[in-house]
Amino acid sequence: MKRFEPAGRTPWWLFLLPFLVGCGGTAEQTEQPVDPLVIGRTIYIKRCVSCHNHDGSGTLRKRPYAADFNRVDGVLSQSDDLLIAAVMDGKKGTYGSMPAFRPILKEDEVRAVLAYIRHRFQKPPAADATPAVETPSPARSP
Ligand code: HEC
Repeated sequence: MKRFEPAGRTPWWLFLLPFLVGCGGTAEQTEQPVDPLVIGRTIYIKRCVSCHNHDGSGTLRKRPYAADFNRVDGVLSQSDDLLIAAVMDGKKGTYGSMPAFRPILKEDEVRAVLAYIRHRFQKPPAADATPAVETPSPARSP
């Protein structure tokens, strides 16, 4: 018959085990909702930068002279619906044209990339422009 081993014989490193286990588990909690701006940025860099530039200025001295997103009275003063339609169906500009993205991007994705473009490049609206839509804050309880 085997005898019960006294505590003195327990290997010393067993006492470290709770610490080692404790460190591993909690560090990564990546259950975050994906920000549309992050999706939009990824799409912009992949699909739009080649013509519209990292700074949104449109290609300088190089065809097809895409729209400059930084102009206060520029293309971004149009409504979301018009701009989404332009990206989905393509746009023939004065000097060049943008291909239709309908075969490549879903409407949600175009919406996300447009939100990113507005967030990143759009300048404060001119005095007569319609104010940006504000998200209503939840009603407060007394
Ligand atoms: C092949 C080059 C090219 C690519 C790629 C491109 N664009 Fe364009 N884009 C253009 C040109 C050219 C215009 C028209 C400029 C003008 O009106 O003279 C334009 C115009 C626009 C406009 C303004 C539309 C309007 O109604 O005036 C928006 C918004 C836009 N692009 C967004 C995007 C987005 C978002 C992407 C990526 C998904 C993209 N573009 C990719 C070339 C491009």
